[in-house]
Amino acid sequence: MSFTQRNVLTWLVLAAATLLAGCERPPIEAVQHGFRGTGMVQVYNPRIVADSIPLNALPDAVPAAAPGGPAASLVFQNVQVLGELSVGEFSRTMVAMASWVAPEQGCTYCHNAQNFASDEKYTKVVARKMLQMTHKINADYKSHVAETGVTCYTCHRGNNIPKNVWFTAKPEARSDGLIGDRAGQNTVSVAGAYSSLPEDPFTPYLLEAKDIRIIGGTALPTGNRHSIKQAEWTYSLMSHMSTSLGVNCTYCHNSRSFASWETSPPQRATAWYGIRMVRDLNNDYMTPLTSVFPAHRLGPTGDVGKANCLTCHQGAYKPLYGKSMVKDYPGMQAAVPPVAASAPEVVAMETTPPVAMAPAMKVAAK
Ligand code: HEC
Ligand code: HEC
Ligand code: HEC
Ligand code: HEC
Repeated sequence: MSFTQRNVLTWLVLAAATLLAGCERPPIEAVQHGFRGTGMVQVYNPRIVADSIPLNALPDAVPAAAPGGPAASLVFQNVQVLGELSVGEFSRTMVAMASWVAPEQGCTYCHNAQNFASDEKYTKVVARKMLQMTHKINADYKSHVAETGVTCYTCHRGNNIPKNVWFTAKPEARSDGLIGDRAGQNTVSVAGAYSSLPEDPFTPYLLEAKDIRIIGGTALPTGNRHSIKQAEWTYSLMSHMSTSLGVNCTYCHNSRSFASWETSPPQRATAWYGIRMVRDLNNDYMTPLTSVFPAHRLGPTGDVGKANCLTCHQGAYKPLYGKSMVKDYPGMQAAVPPVAASAPEVVAMETTPPVAMAPAMKVAAK
């Protein structure tokens, strides 16, 4: 081979490598998901599934507490949420929280070791709100989390800050160049599965309650505000939902009509409740903590880190592949069983979903 021939060959190999770098290496497996003939097939890459298995493994269990003992509220000074737990179960909950949220720092991540009752560390104030949020999810969002429920570990997985949180993107100044107003899109969007779709579909849909629609409800444009922008946001959110769960669009839709509920698999209804749940968590629990967090924890517009589908799911169709930890941790459940006969009566929580399900969805969710 001459020098030039070898040079050309090298270039060809390099060019092929560059072209194919964006492709996923085989094998690819296809699993039928919907009715035969509908093409509702889930496409998996076993290598990627294998990577997400250790990520969604259960942590070591915290040994059970000795039964009995007085209520924590009778023993400690500043217990506002977990007061009905027995002292033993309360301490076990603290050990579990430390291992799920601050395994390296331990108790002093949230406490002044000289005075455990003090609320001087912001992390303790945040953790109390997180306890209330976890209780809320497990009691009032069974429409999404079922009996599986969540614990701090579902989101935190041993990290102080969950690995996947989002901040509202800072609006860019309109440039005078060729590009003009980028309007938060047209570069690589991580949220939108590396497409050029909007980079932040979360602010309109998982904080605000903009309509997630593409097809207008009326023939005439009167009152039909289903703009191109809204379509792009919708597709970006849908891409985020698919990648967060490690599934294709057909996990929740029959692509014959993305809008039709009648032909959608029941998972779409679960997702519908999930969108409402995440919106509520961000508005009712995360945003009110804004002034509690130090400045270095806040985003470019001064907002707190918020949750999306990836925060819990982390590539699995159910977080931790559907394994439940809640049943082993009474401290993560809202209605803690009373420990003594004199304990205050536990008020039953409202369990009806926030919005009534459309009749068509009930059929789909059968
Ligand atoms: C992620 C934050 C966090 C970690 C880590 C943590 N705690 Fe706590 N701790 C709290 C919160 C929040 C409360 C208040 C609970 C409530 O209001 O019901 C609390 C309350 C307490 C109290 C009650 C103090 C009183 O008198 O009011 C004790 C005791 C305690 N924790 C011990 C521990 C121990 C021991 C560890 C380590 C094994 C630990 N905590 C780790 C957040 C944490
Ligand atoms: C739905 C997901 C979710 C669950 C469940 C959850 N957290 Fe969080 N947690 C977050 C998010 C999001 C943040 C905010 C990150 C930010 O603003 O920087 C956060 C922040 C925190 C922080 C502040 C850490 C720091 O260094 O600033 C503490 C402490 C914390 N959570 C404790 C807990 C505890 C304890 C539990 C369980 C009782 C829990 N979390 C459950 C999502 C969750
Ligand atoms: C985990 C379930 C899930 C996955 C995966 C999913 N979607 Fe959706 N999709 C939904 C839900 C739920 C809605 C309705 C949202 C609402 O009304 O709040 C929706 C709405 C839509 C709409 C709007 C329909 C209308 O009424 O105008 C389109 C279009 C759509 N999805 C396309 C897609 C595409 C394309 C993908 C793959 C990239 C995808 N979806 C993946 C659950 C899902
Ligand atoms: C607070 C944690 C959490 C968040 C955030 C979350 N999920 Fe889930 N999700 C769960 C749990 C737990 C389950 C398992 C419920 C069960 O066992 O049936 C689940 C189940 C599901 C399922 C049913 C899967 C199946 O095969 O039955 C879908 C679909 C889903 N989630 C979509 C979403 C979407 C879309 C989002 C974002 C809008 C989201 N989830 C956000 C915790 C969460």
